[in-house]
Amino acid sequence: MGFRTFTMWENFFGIIFLQFVGHPSGQTLFRVVIKSLSPKELVRIHVPKPLDRNDGTFLMRYRMYETVSKGLKIEVLYGDEHVAQSPYILKGPVYHEYCECPEEDPQAWQKTLSCPDKEPQIEKDFASFPSINLQQMLIEVPKRFGDERGAIVHYTILNNHIYRRSLGKYTDFKMFSDEILLSLTRKVLLPDLEFYVNLGDWPLEHRKVNETPGPLPIISWCGSLDSQDVILPTYDITHSTLEALRGVTNDLLSIQGNTGPSWINKTEKAFFRGRDSREERLQLVQLSKENPQLLDAGITGYFFFQEKEKELGKAKLIGFFDFFKYKYQVNVDGTVAAYRYPYLMLGDSLVLKQDSPYYEHFYMALKPWKHYIPIKRNLSDLLEKVKWAKENDEEAEKIAKEGQLTARDLLQPHRLYCYYYRVLQKYAERQLSKPEIRDGMELVPQPDDSASLCQCHRKRPLRQEL
Ligand SMILES: *[C@@H]1O[C@H](CO)[C@@H](O)[C@H](O)[C@H]1NC(C)=O
Ligand SMILES: *[C@@H]1O[C@H](CO)[C@@H](O)[C@H](O)[C@H]1NC(C)=O
Repeated sequence: MGFRTFTMWENFFGIIFLQFVGHPSGQTLFRVVIKSLSPKELVRIHVPKPLDRNDGTFLMRYRMYETVSKGLKIEVLYGDEHVAQSPYILKGPVYHEYCECPEEDPQAWQKTLSCPDKEPQIEKDFASFPSINLQQMLIEVPKRFGDERGAIVHYTILNNHIYRRSLGKYTDFKMFSDEILLSLTRKVLLPDLEFYVNLGDWPLEHRKVNETPGPLPIISWCGSLDSQDVILPTYDITHSTLEALRGVTNDLLSIQGNTGPSWINKTEKAFFRGRDSREERLQLVQLSKENPQLLDAGITGYFFFQEKEKELGKAKLIGFFDFFKYKYQVNVDGTVAAYRYPYLMLGDSLVLKQDSPYYEHFYMALKPWKHYIPIKRNLSDLLEKVKWAKENDEEAEKIAKEGQLTARDLLQPHRLYCYYYRVLQKYAERQLSKPEIRDGMELVPQPDDSASLCQCHRKRPLRQEL
């Protein structure tokens, strides 16, 4: 009993992917020890238990609380024996999350991250905006979108410092945009730019490209077929990724180690639990009552359709990991795109996705019948599709697997950083005038505690002309 081969095939942002070939899954008898390469450097490194993805691969996370200058030594041990090429050396300096040490050469930074050459969604979003007129935005955005009930935040990034002001009252979610922008500026030198982030649910810009005046490049978390907003990964995906890197448990990485029983042991029903944020969700529950052998759907909280609670009943809350006891997962929109979709795709169940005008940054890469099963907006073919899946088990499993693998790839932490950087870069290239710090903007500071202490070996940004 042992490993035939073992590979550590990636190491980014405190995550190591381990693969064992010819070793039964479910037996995490190996240990991973991570320490500083230099015995003189005492650093705290938190290493939670590996996440078993049940397919011979494991996800290991580690969180460094300090920076190591020489490097990290990663030992993979089976009993007391080193496995394969262990110990692995990660040459330093290796910076911890809060170390403010931006790489000055964005090209080099993107290369280290293996950022993809193309992000089709970004290409598409910017096709509507060959140039960006900041002066026009300065006049129009507050008038069109900056009312009291607005959720717009105006950002300027200058010399890798972040400034912002809020337009409107509902801008608490700026904690999420602040968080990722600060994290980015600690890692890479951002271009100077000035932009508006929409923190609300709905995309905003409904002007068409050929209209005069034309559309404005508002940055939003969710896109739709009838709007021109430039999208970023949702606050949910963004926060989840940042949390995952802090070693929290209900995030995009943890899901991967908690996908329930293996395919043959999953209950052969479609499953849904969620709030009543869209009428089709109620229809889903009705369908479930009439077809309990195919579908188990329930509403866990009423807000929009309170009068329906009596008729449809309220389902008990169930932990997200338990969703994966079921073979098929129904994804129905909430107010906009259902932000659970990435989590469902990362599980090993088959996702039945409601047709929708809304999308997130990674949807474009996922294809119907290859990565998920499409269902009509009005759910009229849902039962038929569940029946199809039951009768074509092998194919259903294949689509589930293909979807999972693709989602794992798309939703890796480094891809999120690549995506953000690329959007900001494309935007900056198109600006017709220089970004400025506007009246009422304040500096968004880096966290100011001992956690951020570090020795940055990279050159500091020297451009201080302002
Ligand atoms: C399915 O469940 C049974 C009973 O718990 C278990 O013995 C079996 O190993 C499981 N099969 C797989 C492939 O996990
Ligand atoms: C559901 O939508 C389809 C179009 O996608 C339409 O042909 C069909 O009549 C609708 N069914 C119901 C019950 O409304």
